[in-house]
Amino acid sequence: MRLMSEAVQARLQQTFPMHRLVWLKTSDSTHLEGARLWRSEAASWVVVADSQSAGRGRYGRSWESAPGVNIYLSLVWQNPFGRELGLLNLFWGVVVWQSLLAVFPSLNERLTLKWPNDVYVERRKLAGILMQNLDAELKQTLVGIGINVYARQDQIPPTATSLLQELPPHILGDEARVKIVEELLHRLHSPGLTACCEDPQQLREKFWQAAARCRRQTYAYQGVSPVEGTLHGLYDDGTVDILSEQGGLVHLCM
Ligand code: BTN
Repeated sequence: MRLMSEAVQARLQQTFPMHRLVWLKTSDSTHLEGARLWRSEAASWVVVADSQSAGRGRYGRSWESAPGVNIYLSLVWQNPFGRELGLLNLFWGVVVWQSLLAVFPSLNERLTLKWPNDVYVERRKLAGILMQNLDAELKQTLVGIGINVYARQDQIPPTATSLLQELPPHILGDEARVKIVEELLHRLHSPGLTACCEDPQQLREKFWQAAARCRRQTYAYQGVSPVEGTLHGLYDDGTVDILSEQGGLVHLCM
């Protein structure tokens, strides 16, 4: 299944002239490619690949990147949150969570955003986001988004899921990857999310709503040391308190 036909690529480039869209059949990592492109020219690059040979995850982990089935996308983004890394991370989680729900509203009851920006379907991870600063002032960031779309269960970790596992075939369709990428780019320029960049309170409210399931159910979080618990509180800077299974509050920050 091809990620983007040339006609779709041309249409998207026309719709989003502010970005420089690059479509790759294979890449080591769209994140590495995005950083290379940025060093060669400081433009608003969006790099999408059909496969990655060295996909990267957070905390130095790798990201399973089976060919031809998922979304591997990195984009250069002007960061309005400055050094507030907590807010930056919440923002991208909300963008991906909202985009997936916009394309597949029937996921509504099961999709959740787990702090800081992992998207889960119930207990399993569907999408992850990786951030990298491109300058010392954190003005430009590279945002890497991995979304499991058509992956079979044996192509992703046991703790992960894909849209293929979660949706009936007639709902998922053949064009899910194009639809999601298009929705992500549209959403990024939508008034609702632009408002979140200017008003962090709106962003915190959207995150709190998206993370509703994590307030009721226990999830594992990566802090200074790993902790399992429920989401208990959200601070102005986007950091959170987790109520651990032992009953204590653990403050998590980026
Ligand atoms: C995480 O660990 O949750 C973050 C995963 C981020 C994966 C994406 S796939 C596109 C981009 N390229 C990479 O090598 N990683 C990110």
